[in-house]
Amino acid sequence: MSHSVLNADSQGRVINPEALVAQLPALQYVDGALCLEEVDVASLAKTYGTPCYVYSKQAILNVYKAYTDSFAAIDHQICYAVKANSNLAVLGILAQAGAGFDIVSSGELARVLAAGGEASRVVFSGVGKRTDDIRYALEAGIGCFNIESDSELALIQGVAAELGKTAAISLRVNPNVDAKTHPYISTGLKDNKFGISHEKALSVYQQAAAMPNIRIQGIDCHIGSQLTEVAPFIDALDKLIELIDNLRTNGIELEHIDLGGGLGVQYIDETPISIADFAAALLPKLTQLGLKVFFEPGRSIVANAGLLLTRVDVLKPTEHKNFAIVDAAMNDLIRPALYQAEMAIIPSQLATATAGNECTWDIVGAICETGDFLAKDRVLSLAVGDVLAVTGAGAYGFVMSSNYNTRPRSAEVMVSENQHQLVRPREQVAELFATEQLWQA
Ligand code: LLP
Repeated sequence: MSHSVLNADSQGRVINPEALVAQLPALQYVDGALCLEEVDVASLAKTYGTPCYVYSKQAILNVYKAYTDSFAAIDHQICYAVKANSNLAVLGILAQAGAGFDIVSSGELARVLAAGGEASRVVFSGVGKRTDDIRYALEAGIGCFNIESDSELALIQGVAAELGKTAAISLRVNPNVDAKTHPYISTGLKDNKFGISHEKALSVYQQAAAMPNIRIQGIDCHIGSQLTEVAPFIDALDKLIELIDNLRTNGIELEHIDLGGGLGVQYIDETPISIADFAAALLPKLTQLGLKVFFEPGRSIVANAGLLLTRVDVLKPTEHKNFAIVDAAMNDLIRPALYQAEMAIIPSQLATATAGNECTWDIVGAICETGDFLAKDRVLSLAVGDVLAVTGAGAYGFVMSSNYNTRPRSAEVMVSENQHQLVRPREQVAELFATEQLWQA
């Protein structure tokens, strides 16, 4: 019996649930039931309710290992970008595997420490660090600050002097290369707010060299996210190597180069370069350079380790459009609304999907916004009560969720083999305003 159901995104790319799942290692259909590792996701929806994020431990570890194996020939450190998914269970699994972390706030540092991560393996990125962030990071003993402006450098020198500490720093250089990705997640162009221009970098390093509480350690860049080709990474690396040579000529020696994150993933039919090929393309230049190499991958480690499970609450066919109103909304998963991101939505039970009554649905949430949709014009066979799974939702999913419309944020569950564990309970409505006060004048 064929289970195939045609389901296409707005660009007409066909989404065949079975074919897609065959390409996503953590997922499989077993007798028509979608399983994450060995656990049937419909049963998870029943146990924990929906909407619910579910993650595969093995999928996270497999990608992490692909990075460490692929770069085994050189001294390297993988600093997982916490912003992609900051649940303590995810951080703890990676910390145990030996990962470092890339953070952008003291809140993220607190999470890393709470999850058992080592401060010395933390790099602190971000364009606007505050005095209290810097103080906390110095006191915790983080590995390195990735600095994005001369004023930030001066601020860090000031806080380090006050604490009697030395801050290890790296300058985030904006290499002005086109990452060829969505403009909102492209960061390495002159027009972007990120980094210090290539032209200005030498003079900022010279200022840093003269500061008593600053130790120059590295150089870094991050050119964007969801990159599927290696060429922009190579271009950025070439620009950095040129700068490193220039710094050497000027008596400034570095210990590490940090190439940021950005490797893309398959959402529908994207074919991102594999981690092994990415490494093979970069290794000759990196080996010759001889510096320790850092990477800050986020999405590639967690995106396809996660699903958002949601239930169909209402089917509302109209003259012009059919709407399937599901219990997840833009507050739970904002990527489609914010970036027009196309994410696959597949049935948890193929039997339901092959009932033969497919039609074209906009899969929408219940929020009072026209932009509240998870996907448009998807061909699916749906019935009220069906559980659907949004794939690729492990990265920039829960972390970008909000309480808009006073909607409690969803539960998060970790799966390993046939085990599952609630790693964050669903919020309760009362919690959402428990600390608010009535005006009492
Ligand atoms: N390092 C820095 C300095 C970054 O700004 C980022 C992501 C990363 C590493 C991790 O990049 P990744 O490997 O995850 O591509 N919310 C957007 C993505 C924003 C990425 C921001 N910076 C989305 O949902 O597509």
